[in-house]
Amino acid sequence: MRIIPVALIPGDGIGPEVVAEAQRVLDQVARMSGRFRFQYRSFDWSCQYYLAHGKMMPDDGLKILQDFEAIFLGAVGFPPVPDHVSLWGLLLPIRREFDQYVNLRPVKLLRGIESPLREVAPGEIDFIVIRENTEGEYSNSGGRLRQGTPQEVVVQNAVFTRYGTERVIRYAFERAVHSRQHVTSATKSNGLNFSMPFWDEVFRSVGQAYPQVKQELYHIDALAAYFVTRPKSFDVVVASNLFGDILTDLGGAITGGIGIAPSANINPEKRYPSMFEPVHGSAPDIAGRGIANPIGQIWTGALMLEHFGLMAEAELLIDAIEATLLDGVKTPDLGGRHTTRDVTDHIIQRLTAWE
Ligand code: NAI
Ligand code: MG
Repeated sequence: MRIIPVALIPGDGIGPEVVAEAQRVLDQVARMSGRFRFQYRSFDWSCQYYLAHGKMMPDDGLKILQDFEAIFLGAVGFPPVPDHVSLWGLLLPIRREFDQYVNLRPVKLLRGIESPLREVAPGEIDFIVIRENTEGEYSNSGGRLRQGTPQEVVVQNAVFTRYGTERVIRYAFERAVHSRQHVTSATKSNGLNFSMPFWDEVFRSVGQAYPQVKQELYHIDALAAYFVTRPKSFDVVVASNLFGDILTDLGGAITGGIGIAPSANINPEKRYPSMFEPVHGSAPDIAGRGIANPIGQIWTGALMLEHFGLMAEAELLIDAIEATLLDGVKTPDLGGRHTTRDVTDHIIQRLTAWE
């Protein structure tokens, strides 16, 4: 049996509530599978930790995490700690230092979820967005001169490297090879006349090695519209950091919203641990009330299973989530009246019934 060391960072707000529930589900999947076991160590790095120690994690935090194969994170951020402190003190250092250059988000309409789009049925939206996660428009390069004066000058640079662009695009093609052989790239080569023609060149050049894969390029504005008008037509979508950020939120919105959306920050070479976290934050408005939707965190657990090649286990878990939604066991954000615990219990019950 494979033992996989996983660092848990439950974080703030509803983070600890949903991480504990996801652990219960993953333990049940592990029992049923018999092929693996997650060996957890939990870290209390959070805004609470910050208030006590003046930092989000200890100075050797990254060094400690390096010994794990994955990081399973809830959410960080809670008043009165400013959001940029929690983000730059924990999440961003992990993503950058561990070279998690792929941010992956499934855009999949689960059975039992109604899309705000009138004409799609469950199963009809099923693709993934791959967002470049380390450079591009979010490169921390630029500056402000003569601040606050009428002569103020502001520059924000986007930085694209051939290395960084090639590797994320190649990752998208590799995913497509194991999926429906179709990659769509987000561009804007008319307006951004240096970075995006370069992105397109790299896309075409990497694509030459994948003649069997259908390759399409759309300007980001048109692509955003297609997410709404014909979401059924995508398989793998690859985008720069900023474009991917926007597309993934849109993808979440057409498939049921923030309470269920999962995400992964991946270092494909597995040289560093990858980090798995739901899309949502710490939801201070509902924290402590037992009504947070645990599905975002649980589905994130399925992405972690996939990362370790445990495909059948991941599929089983998603089936149990869908069955639960179809049974109408839902938290208030999905229009239901069940608690966090009810939903988890039902998912586990569904799994057990198939044992
Ligand atoms: P949020 O995602 O925490 O909440 C937005 C809205 O969605 C709220 O009304 C909340 O109640 C609802 N919601 C979120 N998750 C839910 C769930 N599982 N079940 C039911 N309802 C849910 O985003 P917001 O309010 O912008 O940020 C709150 C805090 O979380 C901030 O400190 C922010 O910095 C942090 N944050 C952290 C993230 C992370 O750790 N990756 C990501 C996004 C925000
Ligand atoms: Mg975003």
